Amino acid sequence: MVDRHATHEQLSRKLESAGQQHLLQHWDELTPAERERLAAQIENLDLELFAALKKQFGATEPGRVADHRAHWAALAARASSPPALRLDGSGVDFSTEAAVQRGEQLLREHKVGMILVAGGLGTRLGCDGPKGMFPIGPLSQRPLFQVLIESLLAVRKKYQTAIPLYVMTSSATDVQTREFLTAHNYFGLPKEDVKFFSQSSMFAVDDGWNKILLASKGELVLAPDGHGGMLRAFEKSGCLADCRERGIDLLFYGQIDNPLLQVCDPLLLGSHMLSRSELTTQVVKKRRPSERVGVLVSADNKVQMIEYSDLPEANAQETLPDGSLKFWAGSLAVHVFDRELLERAASQADALPFHIAHKKTPHLNERGERIEAYKPNAFRFERFIFDLLQVAERALVVEADPALAFAPVKNSDAEATDNPRLAKQAIQALHRRWLRAAGVQIADDVPVEINPLFATSADELAAKLPPGTSVTQATYFTPNGPAS
Ligand code: UTP
Repeated sequence: MVDRHATHEQLSRKLESAGQQHLLQHWDELTPAERERLAAQIENLDLELFAALKKQFGATEPGRVADHRAHWAALAARASSPPALRLDGSGVDFSTEAAVQRGEQLLREHKVGMILVAGGLGTRLGCDGPKGMFPIGPLSQRPLFQVLIESLLAVRKKYQTAIPLYVMTSSATDVQTREFLTAHNYFGLPKEDVKFFSQSSMFAVDDGWNKILLASKGELVLAPDGHGGMLRAFEKSGCLADCRERGIDLLFYGQIDNPLLQVCDPLLLGSHMLSRSELTTQVVKKRRPSERVGVLVSADNKVQMIEYSDLPEANAQETLPDGSLKFWAGSLAVHVFDRELLERAASQADALPFHIAHKKTPHLNERGERIEAYKPNAFRFERFIFDLLQVAERALVVEADPALAFAPVKNSDAEATDNPRLAKQAIQALHRRWLRAAGVQIADDVPVEINPLFATSADELAAKLPPGTSVTQATYFTPNGPAS
């Protein structure tokens, strides 16, 4: 079985040059299938990258790795609020209506594609399998993939357009995601408009910078290389070239874990074009200075992102003369990219650098014993998509109403925030709001859910529901109409 991969001798030679032969030390105990897997992992191991990272970070004391405080404090001190289209329409020299019209035109002209990143491990949610399979429809139990794909189908239908969907998976989610979406016929998207691409995995290194770690005798400690792994994987897989061939100029980027994602929002797309931005990012106004959300700021003639953990408390509290927060723009991780920005960044060797983190990492030690980690004991590496802001010539921030745009599914219901229970509540609150704006009577305690293929706004509901409608029992508005 091993012969499809390199032989033990070839693997050993590769590892020897980097002093990593320990990765083969249990080879003799492995089954043929285990050998095949380990051989594939070692073949994919980028030892030049290991050497480069060691050179870059190796001299840093483990405890100091996360200590970029001085850097971020200096950045926050010289930063100001970012250029932004605010909810009230202020901040830019075009009207909201003009932006929406421009966005709608881009959609009708087939200029837009969608990237959905779904390679994360979903550790905090603790679901079995990819997060996209997690049921989130409050009444329908539709999984996250279906919710977002049906939102995309609704946009395609409304603007009579084809929007290809590029789904990013990782080795942790790839097989199950493909099988799941294929088994469900892509929830109605034409097969030719769905493309999968898989991000790379990254190894872990002990915090003495000596050994790449084994998870078991036949397996490395590996994890997806961060959402920033999207750039390289998108290019390498041929998806970026596919965009060019299809005449796609803009990529709408969203995450799998937000069922209220405003898929291909015309306002975001149109504002991007009218401001000649290369990277436009959707934000919400922070509710509290200490809210745990990254903020978009302006510094050194660039829009930049400061993670909440890096923003000094004193800066988080800063206010403008009108009393509002200076660093108000909380990231939703929803972006619009120029295809040309992705092409330019992909052609640069290190447009998105690796970030290092000192983390608890269970592994197998030299003696083949399992080490449980109770404190950080290894380095892990990730790329962040928002580092593309460093490459973008111009960037814009667009404020969204969180009630319309944001219901994060990060934690399990055992946690108090960002959990499925709250996301379902947020979906129902929005749908109740649309119903009421369409003149429908509905009490606060009546469960409700609206499939986007039935309606995506109060106006669409008003056009479909007779005047005087009231909803008195749990109702799911399916694509074909209400079902109690
Ligand atoms: P998160 O950083 O919230 O991580 O990802 P996660 O993997 O979903 O959950 P935890 O941290 O393990 O609990 C935000 C989005 O970025 C994607 C995720 O799938 C999610 O849509 N992502 C994250 C990737 O696609 N690849 C990655 O390497 C990391």
